[in-house]
Amino acid sequence: MKITTTKFASRIQNVSESKSVQLASVIAGLKAQGEEIISFNVGEPDFPTPKVIIEATKKALDEGDTRYALVPGQPFLREAIASKLIHDQKLSISAKNVFISNGSKQILYSLFQLLCNSNDEVIIPTPYWVSFPEAVKLAGANPVFVETNRGRLDADIIEKAITPRTKIIILNSPSNPSGLIYDCGEIKKVLAMAKENGIYIISDEAYEALVFESKQFLGPAGIADQGLERTLIVQSFSKTFCMTGFRIGYVAANEEIIAGLNKFQSHVCGNIPVFIQKGALAALENEDEIKRYMREEFTKRRDLAYSLCKEIFSDTPKPQGAFYLFPKIQDELILKFGSDEALALHILKEAKVALLPGSYFGVPGTLRVAFANSEENIKKGLSAIKDIL
Ligand SMILES: Cc1ncc(COP(=O)(O)O)c(C=O)c1O
Repeated sequence: MKITTTKFASRIQNVSESKSVQLASVIAGLKAQGEEIISFNVGEPDFPTPKVIIEATKKALDEGDTRYALVPGQPFLREAIASKLIHDQKLSISAKNVFISNGSKQILYSLFQLLCNSNDEVIIPTPYWVSFPEAVKLAGANPVFVETNRGRLDADIIEKAITPRTKIIILNSPSNPSGLIYDCGEIKKVLAMAKENGIYIISDEAYEALVFESKQFLGPAGIADQGLERTLIVQSFSKTFCMTGFRIGYVAANEEIIAGLNKFQSHVCGNIPVFIQKGALAALENEDEIKRYMREEFTKRRDLAYSLCKEIFSDTPKPQGAFYLFPKIQDELILKFGSDEALALHILKEAKVALLPGSYFGVPGTLRVAFANSEENIKKGLSAIKDIL
């Protein structure tokens, strides 16, 4: 058979496969061979999808909601999302400001395609979620990484990174992977810069429901951009509602952006299945109860995981949100193993625990430990790591 080597387009050659997704398939392979691996690598709650959501989805399927539908999403869901944002963050918006798509990953991809020309710049604070820079590169734009104080946003550093080519600043609070929440004052300053320089802020609020110390999360729009002049809120149903496999998320933005997305998505996936949207509506109708449960459970897990992790890595910041610990590895361990990647591999092989090296998130010398796992597994996994180090 003739073997050909296909040369992929440069925009594909320029990006790397999601390393966390890559590792997840290695771990699935090890598990298939009978290895018992404790997963602290995946950003996915281990709880089943709430029954009300499953029932609403099934009902929609039984009732025949299986046809092509409207590109930006069905009015019932767009209205419910607008009401949620008006209630939670006191925004002055309507359903016309809401656009539904296949998970927030695809929304981010679509937004960079919509807004960025070649060589435009997108500012990304480190540590960052792995898909941000790759989705930017897929649009031919350049990610510009800015330092933070171990995940604490610093508006002065962002200001220094702004150039005439800056199109977007990404904010992700609570942050994957740091678990920290950005300071309101710093967000306000970044918003003022965005307004002054005609820059958009993409606020990825995937972990909005998982805030441990405060009652209600406020993003940049809720803080000082209630009309969504410069802020694009990107949101996912995956984390709060344990709907990772449903693939549904949304963006709330000004109507100009929504019109652009409508044009783009009409040629990409067309629309999101209506039965999925009915499941998402049930999620929002039961949001308070689901959120309360998730917060209570994740607060217990956070406290447990944090105290055990500190015994291994003394420099572990206490997460304020999301479900990640982001410890700094002691110098002697880096010297012994060579890098965070080598240490993560050692932990996988010897302790049978999967976690991710911080260099995947732009901060070598750290690790990301997802505590989206049972208390029993948190205890087992962290004590196995302690034993082998
Ligand atoms: C910050 C952040 N944004 C977006 C996503 C993707 O969510 P979705 O399942 O909606 O694509 C993740 C998933 O890990 C995430 O951590």
